[in-house]
Amino acid sequence: MLQLAIIGLSLISSCFGHYELPADLKLGAVTAAFPIEGGWNEGGKGESSWDFIVHNYTDFLVSDLPPEELIAQAKVAADSYHNWREDIRVAKELGLDYYKFSIATTRIIPRGPYNPVNQEGIDYYNNLIDGLLAVGITPVVTMYYYDGSQAASFFYGGFSNPLCVDAMVRYADVLFAAFGDRVKIWDTFQDGYKECKEIYGEFIGNEYEYFPRGEYEYLCGRYLILSHASIYRLYQDKYKAEQNGLVSMTFGLDWYEPADEGAQEAALRAMDFTFGWFASPIINGDYPQRMIDTIAELSEIQNFPQSRLPPFTEEEKVLIKGALDLMVLVHRNTYLVVDHFDDSFPPTAQKDVQITRFIDQEWNDTNSFYTTTPWGFREAVKYVWDNYGQPEIAISHATYGAYEDSLNDDFRIHRLQQFLQEVTRLIHEDGVNIKYFSMWSLIDSFFFQYAYTAKFGLYHVDFNNPARPRTPKQSASYYRTVIETRIP
Ligand SMILES: *[C@@H]1O[C@H](CO)[C@@H](O)[C@H](O)[C@H]1NC(C)=O
Ligand SMILES: *[C@@H]1O[C@H](CO)[C@@H](O)[C@H](O)[C@H]1NC(C)=O
Repeated sequence: MLQLAIIGLSLISSCFGHYELPADLKLGAVTAAFPIEGGWNEGGKGESSWDFIVHNYTDFLVSDLPPEELIAQAKVAADSYHNWREDIRVAKELGLDYYKFSIATTRIIPRGPYNPVNQEGIDYYNNLIDGLLAVGITPVVTMYYYDGSQAASFFYGGFSNPLCVDAMVRYADVLFAAFGDRVKIWDTFQDGYKECKEIYGEFIGNEYEYFPRGEYEYLCGRYLILSHASIYRLYQDKYKAEQNGLVSMTFGLDWYEPADEGAQEAALRAMDFTFGWFASPIINGDYPQRMIDTIAELSEIQNFPQSRLPPFTEEEKVLIKGALDLMVLVHRNTYLVVDHFDDSFPPTAQKDVQITRFIDQEWNDTNSFYTTTPWGFREAVKYVWDNYGQPEIAISHATYGAYEDSLNDDFRIHRLQQFLQEVTRLIHEDGVNIKYFSMWSLIDSFFFQYAYTAKFGLYHVDFNNPARPRTPKQSASYYRTVIETRIP
């Protein structure tokens, strides 16, 4: 009887196309260290690769600010290094279930991989974690959000160097030991695809020709995946019994829709070369077969003595397979794709996919930094659910990067509402097990190479005011209401 009543209720609500968010879905907001912290050389912090990029490669940045102003802004950003109490205050004002932030690697281990631990860095995050817990907000931590130490990133070759695996395990060991009594959800890496294809390939590979593209990206991917898996195993062996937390990784999940009937294979290849590049090894123990075959064929045509995608050994396959407690997804864009054959030398990871991608101009919201379409988000999450063994899923981060800098951000409310409604459909109609949803971002920030070009915050930050005050946008009050009522 009760069951019938529930079915009846959900039928009624689905007639109106709206479901509620389940009570056990945790709602949060996300930030990352480099975009918000500032204090770039304070408290014993070392120089990160992003400090170096912003301070020395202003040409690479997309910004209207003059170079000196850009550098000065990056050094302070939203000044969360000093304003962390304000971040906790606004997180509490929103009523967040959880707040996901990242630890600046160079606050903990300032320079090379073997530097001593910087206690001031540990103290900073202890304050933040304790402050969150004191107001009932669960801290969720990303260990590495694109911001390795400059010394390790450039001079050791970062993730292209096998040494990074031991260095990352040592770093993770420090974090588990220092914070694991209170932090129960760990994300090792933010989006390996973005790290390896864009930062290593398109930035470092373009600037320095001695990092050969088409090889370097795959070395980065390989050792990033091995680092993640080794950190996962460390936690299982040394901490899990006592701390009982989850170790995950965040995967970039753009959606590739075939532009026409003939482009089905191109779309599947695009999913394999982006999401699958990182998710498939960690779920299945190896790269997607399409990726292995395509890169091997191209490498042969290009006269490489072996595939530019180095294979995992049998031992490594055992290490990486299943090294994940939660599938954390970041959706940004939806694209149309067609095949595009390109075996030209020199190769790049970008060319290897053998596609051209574009968007339908009807989706083009010219105020939006990403071309996200809510239906593309739903398709992408369904794809993961159907093809990757129905994992427990966290959506991190739904986002609306607006070129318009306004407190009356109806556009963001509209997009956030669409996202949340797709989440309810994924749960109620597609049976997908989504347990976490978070919004990028809690506050406006210095958004890597795009600086202040687009604004992502639920809270506005006044970057012209030395105190960097936080002011709620309309979207903050919308989100607060959703967290309370569970009705998007
Ligand atoms: C690059 O930036 C760093 C600060 O991150 C600075 O110490 C260094 O001198 C700069 N290097 C050059 C060549 O300008
Ligand atoms: C969206 O439209 C703008 C303005 O017409 C254009 O500059 C931009 O390239 C378009 N975006 C995409 C992804 O096609």
